[in-house]
Amino acid sequence: MVLVDMKQLLEAAEEGRYAVGAFNVNNMEQAQGIMAAAVKTESPLIYQVSRGALAYSNKEILLNIIKTIASQNPQIPVAIHLDHGNSPETCLEAMELGFTSVMMDGSLLADGKTPSDYKYNRDVTKAVVDEAHKRGITVEAEIGCLGGIEDGHGSGKEKVTKPEDVLKLYKDCGMDACAIAWGTSHGAYKSTTGKPPILRHDIVSAVHDLVPEVYLVSHGSSSVPKELVDKVNSYGVIRKYKGEDNSRHITAYGKDFNLDEMDARDVVKVMFRAERMPRSVGVPMYELQKGIAEGMRKINVDTDGRLAVTGTILNVLEGSPAEFDPRKYLGPARDAVEGFAKNAMVGFGTPGHIYDKKWVEFVSK
Ligand code: G3H
Ligand code: 13P
Ligand code: ZN
Repeated sequence: MVLVDMKQLLEAAEEGRYAVGAFNVNNMEQAQGIMAAAVKTESPLIYQVSRGALAYSNKEILLNIIKTIASQNPQIPVAIHLDHGNSPETCLEAMELGFTSVMMDGSLLADGKTPSDYKYNRDVTKAVVDEAHKRGITVEAEIGCLGGIEDGHGSGKEKVTKPEDVLKLYKDCGMDACAIAWGTSHGAYKSTTGKPPILRHDIVSAVHDLVPEVYLVSHGSSSVPKELVDKVNSYGVIRKYKGEDNSRHITAYGKDFNLDEMDARDVVKVMFRAERMPRSVGVPMYELQKGIAEGMRKINVDTDGRLAVTGTILNVLEGSPAEFDPRKYLGPARDAVEGFAKNAMVGFGTPGHIYDKKWVEFVSK
């Protein structure tokens, strides 16, 4: 077993009442780290590739990396999913490239920014479902607009998904999975209150009860763990102190600077580099677990992986500022991705579920 359509994974998750982690990848190290976590925890896996990731990696290159890693670990059922496809054309291109699942995000216009109306969403989703299902490819739709309920943008309530809209879209289009807006948002800054975003668990339960045929997807699900943000922010921490001779010092970026011997411009340069990620709170694992109990079956995580990579690279380079062999920092970054992904898989309840069923291998039609 190597590649499967995503629907099989979500079907098994529904039966087993767990969620499959969908991890965004852009390069070999992220893809390897995530696979290592799936192997160690015996978890089914969804690799997610965004349009940005495809553009960055020159399309076939990233797909072939993922396929090679999957073929080296045939015990893990793997779906390759296009994240936030912005048009039927993009989804068709992904189908041709070998994706086993695509997201047609018709909640937004093709610019990926402007909220669409129902008719637009229905038309683009239906076009993608019709083509994808002929090829045995899974389709994830989206209805409602993602964004924090209390993030200060828009009127909040209007963005969350109305359960009856999911039913309507399902009746009109027959998608397999659907992203719903329940209070999460993309990126590292999901809440400005210093507390986790407020989530609408009632919506998850209501959609799950109303449209049990459609597997529910939570976007914007990174936990933004404090330890990962601290790791990024620990780079170059500036500490002021007085020397024994009363000279003024700062330590920054792993070096000691004697301010009394420095030119003012150099001091500014050091201070200028001291920008930090602002305080940030993501979606706590207990909230995701509650969502899983209510019916979430696919949990999308990108930001936490980015933090794991970046924090690790900064830390390695701070400790060894003269290091110039990329393997010396990309290797530890890969290990950090494995670590964060393992935690996520354990939290989502996927360990051991590679044995759930006899998976049917994806054959492109
Ligand atoms: O939901 C969006 C994902 O985090 C992908 O982000 O388009 O910057 O690759 P990206
Ligand atoms: P995060 O930014 O919370 O990781 O969400 C990623 C996502 O939803 C990808 O589609
Ligand atoms: Zn998303």
